[in-house]
Amino acid sequence: MKHLLSVDDLDRDTATGLLDEAERFSQALLGREIRKLPTLRGRTVMTVFYENSTRTRVSFEVAGKWMSADVINVSASSSSVNKGESLRDTAKTLYAAGADALIVRHPASGAAHQIARWTAEDDGAGPAVINAGDGTHEHPTQALLDALTLRQRLGGLEGRRIAIVGDVVHSRVARSNARLLSTFGAEVVLVAPPTLLPVGVGSWPVEVSHDLDRVLPTVDAVMMLRVQAERMNGGFFPSAREYSVRYGLNDRRGRLLPDDAVVLHPGPMLRGMEIGYDVADSPRAAVLQQVSNGVHMRMAVLFSLLVGTEGGGA
Ligand code: CP
Repeated sequence: MKHLLSVDDLDRDTATGLLDEAERFSQALLGREIRKLPTLRGRTVMTVFYENSTRTRVSFEVAGKWMSADVINVSASSSSVNKGESLRDTAKTLYAAGADALIVRHPASGAAHQIARWTAEDDGAGPAVINAGDGTHEHPTQALLDALTLRQRLGGLEGRRIAIVGDVVHSRVARSNARLLSTFGAEVVLVAPPTLLPVGVGSWPVEVSHDLDRVLPTVDAVMMLRVQAERMNGGFFPSAREYSVRYGLNDRRGRLLPDDAVVLHPGPMLRGMEIGYDVADSPRAAVLQQVSNGVHMRMAVLFSLLVGTEGGGA
């Protein structure tokens, strides 16, 4: 695998291999006073973020540093992008400056695919490109870390029933998760108001519901999505209040879940909107486990793309 642009790049065996590799990195670092492996010494990893991020950018940086790569963070707001430089020229410049891997977040769907094509134009090679979120399209490393978290919490994914709830239409996390979880044999149910479901959802490998109270008692896990007001051009239907009442996982709804069901949220969480304060802090919430797994998962992805030997990274 040269790039990770979409969960469609992953068949079940490849995805399972990445989850296993992430577990090995986690074990290799467990209890170490100095968390440093020599795995990517001499490699240069660049993150290029055109949208805000806490978890994804930081965890890629930590992942690269824990494997001894040189990690350079390019923020669009302090780069020559602000002087009008194009995405194509920026990407080619970073490759020419020595990037072995480019980790890209961009508001345009398809941006990472385009960068992979552009950066290979001159020498036929180009860097490994990792999609760290492209518009409303995909966020493949988020889906991988979520699958790892669910596998750890539930003991496996085959036949498990997982609800993805909320602003599905704007969610690259929902798109990547629905497809990857199906690849692993899980049953996915999307729960959202009709206005927050994408056109064409009928072709997704999922069940659809508008009734969260009915779905909650039937699931092994529920993944709450952030309401992405920044992608709504000022309009939000239903209203924030109505949304929260009908689709928020408040403390009363949390009690509808089976005792051992797990709650996930990719973050950032809007407490009091899509998730209640107590649910978010309850033992069934796996939110911080998702963050820790994000580092190990991104180590596994970087290792797989830059070195490629299965099982040899940790
Ligand atoms: N889950 C996620 O992508 O979070 P950030 O936007 O903070 O990276």
